[in-house]
Amino acid sequence: MKVFLTGASGVMGRSSIDALRLAGHDVVGLARTSSSAEQVGAGGAEPCLGDVFDRDALIAGMRGCDAVANLATKVPVGLGALRPGSLKAIDRIRLHGSKVVADAARAAGVGRIVQQSLSFMYADGDDAWIDEHSAVDVTRATEPVVVAEDNMKTFAASGGTAVSLRFGLITGNDPNTAWLFRRAAAGRSIGLGTERSWMHVIHPDDVGSAVVHALTAPGGVYNVGAEPVQRRDYVDAIALAAGHRSGHFLPGWILRLGGEKLEILTRSQRVSSQLFSDRTGWHPYHPKLTPDWFDDLVRV
Ligand SMILES: NC(=O)c1ccc[n+]([C@@H]2O[C@H](COP(=O)([O-])OP(=O)(O)OC[C@H]3O[C@@H](n4cnc5c(N)ncnc54)[C@H](OP(=O)(O)O)[C@@H]3O)[C@@H](O)[C@H]2O)c1
Repeated sequence: MKVFLTGASGVMGRSSIDALRLAGHDVVGLARTSSSAEQVGAGGAEPCLGDVFDRDALIAGMRGCDAVANLATKVPVGLGALRPGSLKAIDRIRLHGSKVVADAARAAGVGRIVQQSLSFMYADGDDAWIDEHSAVDVTRATEPVVVAEDNMKTFAASGGTAVSLRFGLITGNDPNTAWLFRRAAAGRSIGLGTERSWMHVIHPDDVGSAVVHALTAPGGVYNVGAEPVQRRDYVDAIALAAGHRSGHFLPGWILRLGGEKLEILTRSQRVSSQLFSDRTGWHPYHPKLTPDWFDDLVRV
């Protein structure tokens, strides 16, 4: 297939270019700058200059493609994420960009869209397993993710196939984990929420393999991640890789200060990705959080 990727130069995009090329697909990668375009080209994709709000550039790039994977994002990393307005860019990409991308795909005659989504939207489930039918908890922080999925439903209603992938927290050699790793190395707190609560995580490599499998998945919404891990184990795994015996949790008052932005990172989410595996045959190369997920960070 020929696949058009937005966010091609990001963590999800790079993983997807590698996996798509390995599976024999051709990739056109959207890039906003010449340096991103260079990176996309070096990865083996054909760069296309434009952004997710530029309908004409998208249509031109998507012509002749069989599928679109909308992976563009603007996740704030580190303490800057707590600043007022830090979610403005990512909210706009989710709320408005996803609609422009879906409209452009329709106009370009592309029949399938894969939309990156997030399992953070689920309500706190304590120890219960969460599947695609479990309740979501819509707050100001999660609403744009829900709207992006709704834009995909509109695409599907007009005759296309839309697959939304609710990824867990990307954990490995990526800017957010690298920031946590540096904090842990300095002996600072990195844990949010309660120690026994569950997190849904995914290794960066498995994002790309999931995008490949989404090209043949029946339309719908799927959870995508490794085995859920309890927060104490997640925090200790990073701390251990960073040279400490165990990690520390942030005090509750900081969480209250972070409001809805941090609240979504404290929910207990024991998310099952079984449906996606059953429907597509996808299995993560990294099924369980292990110390080697941090090998690249340790080397740096
Ligand atoms: N599920 C998750 O846990 C999850 C999901 C996504 C990201 N993250 C994390 O967020 C952190 C930052 O991610 P990142 O390093 O991939 O960088 P990023 O700054 O979030 O950018 C990601 C991609 O989106 C593209 N993009 C941004 N705005 C765009 C727009 N208006 N139009 C078109 N494309 C646009 C960027 O293109 P340009 O290069 O052209 O700017 C880039 O390719 C990482 O730690 C990552 O793991 C986590």
